[in-house]
This record gives sequence, C-alpha cells and structure tokens, in this order.
Amino acid sequence: MTREPSPAPHSEAGSIQRLARAVRVELGARAYDVHVGTALIGEAGERISATLGAQRCAIITDSNVAASPHMATLDDSLRAAGVTPLGTIVMPPGEATKCFAELQVVVERLLDLAVERRDVVIALGGGVIGDLAGFAAAILRRGVRFVQIPTSLLAQVDSSVGGKTGINTAQGKNLAGAFHQPSLVLADTNALSSLPDRQLRAGYAEIIKHAALGDEAYLTWLEANVEAVMRREPAALVHAVARSVEMKAEIVARDETEQGDRMLLNLGHTFGHALEAWAGFSDRLLHGEAVAIGTAIAFRFSAARGHCSKDDATRIEKHLAAAGLPTRIAQIPQGPSPTVAELMGLMAHDKKVQGGRMTFILAHGVGQAFVSRDVEQAEVERCIAGEIAGNA
Ligand code: GLY
Repeated sequence: MTREPSPAPHSEAGSIQRLARAVRVELGARAYDVHVGTALIGEAGERISATLGAQRCAIITDSNVAASPHMATLDDSLRAAGVTPLGTIVMPPGEATKCFAELQVVVERLLDLAVERRDVVIALGGGVIGDLAGFAAAILRRGVRFVQIPTSLLAQVDSSVGGKTGINTAQGKNLAGAFHQPSLVLADTNALSSLPDRQLRAGYAEIIKHAALGDEAYLTWLEANVEAVMRREPAALVHAVARSVEMKAEIVARDETEQGDRMLLNLGHTFGHALEAWAGFSDRLLHGEAVAIGTAIAFRFSAARGHCSKDDATRIEKHLAAAGLPTRIAQIPQGPSPTVAELMGLMAHDKKVQGGRMTFILAHGVGQAFVSRDVEQAEVERCIAGEIAGNA
C-alpha cells in the first residue's frame, strides 16, 4: 500500500482548492487505486480511460442518485474522455434492491446493452448499489471490470473497498455473493454534502470502528476533528475517508478472503448484526448505528473479560456519543427491548459462526483488536443480559 504525500491542499487553475489522496490496494494482479478527494466525479471519465483503457461502460445507480447532479457530471465526464456510456440502469433505492430478482434485472439489462468483457460497469451510489453492481459484474460473462463511485460515507470508507459483493436472501444479509475486486474506486467527498446527517453519522461509525480496531492515534485525531467531519469540512472529510481506506486496504491486502485478519473489520458486527436483524433491518436502526452499539458492547465485554481497561471502553463510548451515535440497546427507538434468547438466536445464525463457535472481535485496548474464539456461550448470555438491563 502506498500513500501520496498529499494531504496538503493545492490550488489549481481558477483557484479552486483541490484535495486528493490515493491509496493502493496491493493485491498483485488485482491491485487497484482508491482515489479520495474533492470533485472526483468530474474526472471519472479521464481516470477510467487512463487507468483502464476502457472505451465503453454501463452505469448502475439508484433513482435518488440518478436525479442528483452527480449523474450528469459523471455522464459528461465519460463522454468528454471518449468513454461511451452504453446505458444507465436505475434501480429502486434501499436495501430491498439487493435481492436475486433485482440482480437478474441488472444482469439481463447489462446483456441487453451488449456489455462485453473489455467494457466497464460503473457503480454510482451507496453500499446497496456497490454490492449489487459488483456482484452483477462478477457473474456477467464470468467477470467484467467494475469501478466503484461511492456516494455515501459508509460506502466510501467500507463497502466500496475490498471486493465483497453480494445480495441478501430470505436466510439473511449478504449470504450470496462473490469476492470481485473493483478496478478503480473514486471516493468523491463532495458527494457527501447532500447526504442526510443520520446517514453521515452512520457512516462515521465505521470510521470509529477502524480507529478502535487498529489505530489509537487516529482515534485521537477523530476526537479533535469530529465536528469538522460532521460539518463536512473538505480537508477533514478527505483525511478521515483516506485514513480509513488506508487501514482497510492494508488489512484486505493481508487477507483478501477473510481467513484471518480481515475479521478484525467485523469489530462491533457480531452484536451489531443481531441488533440490526432484531430491528428488522429497518430505519429503526441503521447498519452504522447497530455497529456503533456493537462496538461499544465489544469494548465493554472486553473490559469485563479483563482484556482492556474500563477507561478504554468509556473512551470509545464517549466518542461514539460525541458523533451522535447510540451506544446502548436502550437507545434504539420505538418498541420493546430484545430478549437475551432473541439476540442469542440471531447471533447463532451469523456468518461469523464457525463449527458452532461464535467469533468475537475483542480488544486489548484502543487500536488493539483481536479475533477471539474462546468465548463461552454463558459469558455471552451474561453480557447480553447486562446490556439489556442497562447495567453493563
Ligand atoms: N466490511 C467488512 C469487510 O469488508 O471485510
């Protein structure tokens, strides 16, 4: 993984201040660059042409993004660079789009557009579009190249990088999919200016997760800059996105298919997924909010097991709260609390169960997460009971 010496802003003709960083995901023949910066969508055509030599592409997006200025900016930029858009496939927004029926729609539309293996599929949107378009690209003609242009914070710092693609099934989230790395990722932080605050905060939970799992100094930076990020100050956003992408890129380069270290990126997800499933994957609890509560629980659990200090758990909890994120089950709005049996049942179905044993990501301290498979079921039950009762 390499890092451009940036983050200093530089002025361009017309005195528009540009910020740009590039992170390389070192995966040998499948290595690619993630560009993080301002106004990148307007350069997409040039970058796709220069990096991939593509002359034709198809765009997959959702109806919200299709109606935004990003769509026209992307289209103009592609045409100006001589990359012909064969068509734009506009999907309904929302998690329900990540299903077999919509995957079929996308794949058949791509075939109707005569997308060939030397062409490029562009995913313009949040995590739903990135995961769906990536999976469609993975199976279309046994694999075509794809470019991620993530427009949500969650997609920029997490789902657009690392090649996990897929859809949901009746049995659970992301249970059908493929590892298919993008050929290029363009994370344009200007796209975040119209993101609703709640979505921004939910994406920020993954940023805190990165700091909490592997970089204490990054957490210190976040503690000092959370307000600037929430105000969407370009320099703060670019640094936060780029640092998170760097951390993810390093982990993915070490363990692309999640045999070991990549599991660290699941910090907060074992508890978080159970809560998200219990809340019905609804607006009641967004994925990032569930990860926020899950991360706080993972640190409190780590402290209770003697792996880290209570101060570490309190520090994580305080920063999540400073970002306006929930840290406790009782903060999930509307309706009754879950029961221990409900959450235990949901955790048992998690992808992270191996040979009947749950895998937990715990921490020896801030920035020192580790994979643990030695947690007894009774301990988890005690932890969850304490969390539900609010005395953990
Ligand atoms: N979102 C976790 C991973 O990409 O591994």
